[in-house]
Amino acid sequence: MNGFIVTGTDTDVGKTVFAAALAGYLDGWYWKPVQAGLDPGTDAERVAVLSGLPPERILPEAWQLTTPCSPHRAAEIDGVAIDPGELRLPEQRPLVIEGAGGALVPVTRDVLFADLFSRWGLPAIIVARTSLGTINHSLLTIEALRARGVPIHGVAFVGETVEDSEATICSIGGVRRLGRLPWLDSLDADSLRRAFAEGISL
Ligand SMILES: Nc1ncnc2c1ncn2[C@@H]1O[C@H](COP(=O)(O)OP(=O)(O)O)[C@@H](O)[C@H]1O
Ligand SMILES: [Mg+2]
Repeated sequence: MNGFIVTGTDTDVGKTVFAAALAGYLDGWYWKPVQAGLDPGTDAERVAVLSGLPPERILPEAWQLTTPCSPHRAAEIDGVAIDPGELRLPEQRPLVIEGAGGALVPVTRDVLFADLFSRWGLPAIIVARTSLGTINHSLLTIEALRARGVPIHGVAFVGETVEDSEATICSIGGVRRLGRLPWLDSLDADSLRRAFAEGISL
């Protein structure tokens, strides 16, 4: 088991929460290569709380940028140059990697996250909402990853059950449905671990 890339149909769909549960389930390592926006906290800090893993399993980001926007722009605002060639995979396994935003978010003005995913070679899990609009966003994400040769392990849904949308995405997209994480009113490491075990099958 080498691990997975966790990408999503958008920002705020639940990638960090899913990645925390996945890293905990695999008893693995979590890595967010580029964090853009440090207030009120980083995704890695959130994963440290929600995964139940010891702190050393949360690997440091290669870049921490202050502005909560696309990394290519956040880097420019901070006056730093991200060198995508330096974004090499850490050696720890199983490794769960979380991208920023969706698959076609620019890391620099020339390189998109999906380009890095294809270099890294780990299978991608797409985290998708169940709410209105998800069929289009999910199918676009599937096409974008395929166009770059990124292997897709499956789609994990987040939210209330919407059976037809979930089935439609998986049949038209030709992808596995890994399951669904419900929206948890009380979200902590315990409730998340239970919801992942009940709802997700890798
Ligand atoms: N299954 C869930 N149950 C409850 N809250 C969730 C769930 N998934 C995500 N959230 C909340 O939604 C917000 C966005 O989730 P997050 O995982 O940070 O998204 P992303 O990493 O895609 O930007 C956060 O406030 C997070 O706590
Ligand atoms: Mg996140």
